[in-house]
Amino acid sequence: QELQLNLEQIEKGGYDHFMLKEIYEQPSAILDTFRGRLLSNEAIIKMVGVEDNMKKFLAADRIIVVACGTSWHAGLVSEYIFEDLARIPVEVEYASEFRYRNPVITEKDVVIAISQSGETADTLAAIKLAKSKGAFVFGVCNVVGSSIARESDAGAYTHAGPEIGVASTKAFTTQITVLTLMALRLARAKGTISSSEFRHHLIELEMIPAKVEEALKSDGYVQTIADIYKDATNFLYLGRGYNFPVALEGALKLKEISYIHAEGYPAAEMKHGPIALIDEQMPVVVIATKKGHYEKVVSNIQEIKSRKGKIIGIVTKGDKSVKELADHVIEVPETLECLTPLLTTIPLQLLSYHIAVMLDKNVDQPRNLAKSVTVE
Ligand code: G6P
Repeated sequence: QELQLNLEQIEKGGYDHFMLKEIYEQPSAILDTFRGRLLSNEAIIKMVGVEDNMKKFLAADRIIVVACGTSWHAGLVSEYIFEDLARIPVEVEYASEFRYRNPVITEKDVVIAISQSGETADTLAAIKLAKSKGAFVFGVCNVVGSSIARESDAGAYTHAGPEIGVASTKAFTTQITVLTLMALRLARAKGTISSSEFRHHLIELEMIPAKVEEALKSDGYVQTIADIYKDATNFLYLGRGYNFPVALEGALKLKEISYIHAEGYPAAEMKHGPIALIDEQMPVVVIATKKGHYEKVVSNIQEIKSRKGKIIGIVTKGDKSVKELADHVIEVPETLECLTPLLTTIPLQLLSYHIAVMLDKNVDQPRNLAKSVTVE
């Protein structure tokens, strides 16, 4: 028994929980995802699974992403990036809905299945269905040799290393990293991005691990915020554009491990419902980084403030406008708009982690949840 405990402590590498360890592993996990693929000196992206199937990607009428849970959120981020950079239409589907909907799929579709475990039953069934209709299936998995990886026609591993905490953290950011590399590679091949813009993206991407490291420095302050709001019964998370899926992911993290009800919403959609919930008891986490509809998000924040909601802003370093309105601001370094999810996610992971710890919840193995859902 004692030996078992010691072993676990060693595995946690000095951290109290696997989740915290995995949050802190993100800079090196993202670097591992880059390895051999992001060659910024030569200004190229090399991904064997994409290169070998370039014709299929270039001929694709659309990309359909199928996934569940956090992986589905990574898929939503990829919708923005594939459409924005590579100009390929993207649909993002919950695997469970897709497989039972009698979906229209043809040989001209590329289906990307995203799965940390590579074992999620619904995602596996969705790709089998897509394959039977002649679509080309590309897997983005973390677990090497997993069922989805084997069932896919081609793929790219995230190389995040083992993720033990049930709430996904480093799998999410490395999924976004892989999908970003893919979108950039396809954009270059399609000529929808200039060579100088491409180069600029590579340089910015390469700086992400160091910037994630910097974002992690908000940990102490996030803990202070967690202590103030840990007894709230509801949370609202808002974001726009690339950061709308991050808002969904922030809310999911909080639900999963602290059992506090939380909802993620596109900031502009707030007025069509969630605004009715806002009062002085409601903490609202707003992702308001400098790029991407910044002024519009600031006006959303004003609407929350006038209804006395408590505002926790996730802002770009040096921000002034949100600081004047919000109760708290957490800074992340500046980057390209399409790369902001890799940074804004960090404080949201930490916030859910600290609240769950303060509420004495089982962070690594939350009730009712499983790391991989291999049944329907
Ligand atoms: C479960 C896990 C989540 C995960 C989801 C999809 O619900 O608890 O963390 O996001 O399954 O898993 P996958 O392995 O397919 O990414």
